[in-house]
Amino acid sequence: MEQAKLTALVQEMTLAEKVDQLLQLAADFYSQAAEEKTGPMTEMGLKDENIQNAGTILGLAGASEAKRIQKEYMEKNRLGIPTLLMADIIHGFRTIFPIPLALGSSWDLAAAEEMAQISAKEAAVSGLHVTFSPMVDLVRDPRWGRVMESTGEDPYLNARFAESFVKGYQGDDLKNDFTRVAACVKHFAAYGAALAGRDYNTVNMSERQLRESYLPGYKAALDAGAKLVMTSFNTVDGIPATGNKWLFRDVLRQEYDFDGVVISDWGAVKELIFHGVAADEKQAAQLAIEAGVDIEMMTTCYTHYLAELIEEGSVDEALLDEAVLRILELKNDLGLFENPYRGASVEDEKVILSPEHRQAAREIAQKSIVLLKNKADILPLNSEETVAIIGPAAASHDVLGAWSWQGKMEEAVSLLEGAQAYSSHLLVGKEEFDYFAPSQKAVAEAVSLAQKADKVVLALGEAEWMSGEAASRSDITLPKAQIALFEAVKAVNPNIIVTLYNGRPLDLNGIDEAKAIVEAWFAGTEAGNALADILWGAFNPTARLSMSFPESVGQVPIFYNCDSTGRPYESAPNEKYVSKYLDVSNYAKYPFGFGLSYSQFSYQDVVIDQTELTPENQILLTVTITNESEQTGKETVQLYIQDLVGQVVRPIKELKAFQQVVLAGKESRKVSFAITEEMLRYVHQDQRTISDAGAFLAMVGPNSRDLTAVTFNLVK
Ligand code: NOJ
Repeated sequence: MEQAKLTALVQEMTLAEKVDQLLQLAADFYSQAAEEKTGPMTEMGLKDENIQNAGTILGLAGASEAKRIQKEYMEKNRLGIPTLLMADIIHGFRTIFPIPLALGSSWDLAAAEEMAQISAKEAAVSGLHVTFSPMVDLVRDPRWGRVMESTGEDPYLNARFAESFVKGYQGDDLKNDFTRVAACVKHFAAYGAALAGRDYNTVNMSERQLRESYLPGYKAALDAGAKLVMTSFNTVDGIPATGNKWLFRDVLRQEYDFDGVVISDWGAVKELIFHGVAADEKQAAQLAIEAGVDIEMMTTCYTHYLAELIEEGSVDEALLDEAVLRILELKNDLGLFENPYRGASVEDEKVILSPEHRQAAREIAQKSIVLLKNKADILPLNSEETVAIIGPAAASHDVLGAWSWQGKMEEAVSLLEGAQAYSSHLLVGKEEFDYFAPSQKAVAEAVSLAQKADKVVLALGEAEWMSGEAASRSDITLPKAQIALFEAVKAVNPNIIVTLYNGRPLDLNGIDEAKAIVEAWFAGTEAGNALADILWGAFNPTARLSMSFPESVGQVPIFYNCDSTGRPYESAPNEKYVSKYLDVSNYAKYPFGFGLSYSQFSYQDVVIDQTELTPENQILLTVTITNESEQTGKETVQLYIQDLVGQVVRPIKELKAFQQVVLAGKESRKVSFAITEEMLRYVHQDQRTISDAGAFLAMVGPNSRDLTAVTFNLVK
């Protein structure tokens, strides 16, 4: 439909129809059973026509149901406007991929794009039009359960992943490519900075920090073309995002030139009352529409009060009209006026969980699993040795992760199932093993199997419900029963390889004496296969952490790109009055960028081709990487920069680029990075993003800790 027709359509709509266009309801309101919706309808004060004309629906899937709903909707809609179906497709639809934090550990942007593309395809053929993804909130506090939905603690890496997700979901031609869906970047803004890691808690930070660290991820998703933005639950400088005019009108719309749809998070418009910035629903509606929120998800402040606000002259009808137009434009961009059923196809639903999709999920899971420790090369295992596979996660299918509402545990592969392909010398228990309170019988059986084995694979971790939304923890260690199990096993067999399924960086105190630790996250449908591929060496690990693992929860928030302090510990480690703890180091147990391989890589000869950088030229930094082992492996070479003297305090290092290189056994290769003036820009006191002339350190290495530095100058 042409733009002029969309504008004309808005003019044809009554005030009530326009207000209803802004309402988003859950799919239950459209389910066939009328009696099921009566309760919620009364509670929300909804009339049949509100439901009939609500502009968008969330949380539905299935081609035939999607088609039925669209057909009935359009038949009853006076102007023949189609509805729009949205849902949370975060790390896969039915084929479940590793959680985003695991994908972040892959440092593999093509893998992220592929996962998004497959997710989009499965969702689109099931009738969906929009996914509430990517979530690009920068995270620094592993107590927050939603770190599992983020790609981690680094603005640069997050931004690159944000772009890849959007490309994968949307493709290049959303209007005609019905295997894609529109992307909704969230949660704008800074939801990941909830104080003390408690979900829905206050966020408090300077505008400068917001712009420097938190906004780049969202901006990258928008530059890649994301069609929607979701508001966050938190406050930004004292004003809840959902009623924050500065954030949405000034930053998002004006500065970023975003002309797509803004949707509130679930219930967030009404929550302006609980935040204490609106006295009632009417004021909440006014604040949200003035801030530029187009769609109200699952509360009815607009539905009940927007018309009244307009009629009494408190809100300009133009604000409503522009919101409606944006929603209609989105429907049009998705081709819904011409093709209201879009990709929904019962026939095509056969692609869901296809062998190709499962294979992609396995390969992406392999790339996301991090080898944290491998003492005396206890890994990889060989098929001849006797291996006991024990612990609560050994036979568990609870491997999908929190955002997998269409995924089915019974379709997921357990570690035990994956291991069977590699060895006929496995010792496996019969007893059920609980994550928190295993029976004495189960523990005794596990210990006796460990005693008989050459090596023990002890499968530990968090249950799925322990991370995700509303799943903050103050203690991020492993459940006590698991540490007790580790102790009991160690007493009979010290050759312990711990595997972990979890949704956040953990405090790993209690399993220090494990010979190997393999961080598998929630790796999705193919988790067990991918983990076994790594344990038996069919896949040589490549993943690197995108979020630091603390030495203890007391260090949290701990992140590699922290600011310089006035009393750095390193300047005088034996001094009392330096920035440190009495009882724990300042350092992460496993830092950002860290991960081992079965190959060993060394770094030599870090050189730069000139020491003076100008805005016009570039410096080429070259390092020689050698694979010291016999085995082909992939190394992730990382470039960090520190601005030695800034107008405001600068981070001690910041990731600026990385490259993944495959080296055959004993092969050496030169890897080069171009350093440009653009990489040195940062947000100044006056909020401008510019660079300062002066001295910089360029650091290169395999992770954010083990780096070799060279100095250069920016001359302007
Ligand atoms: C609340 C969550 O914060 C958000 O991420 C999600 O997209 C919505 N619910 C819809 O399910």
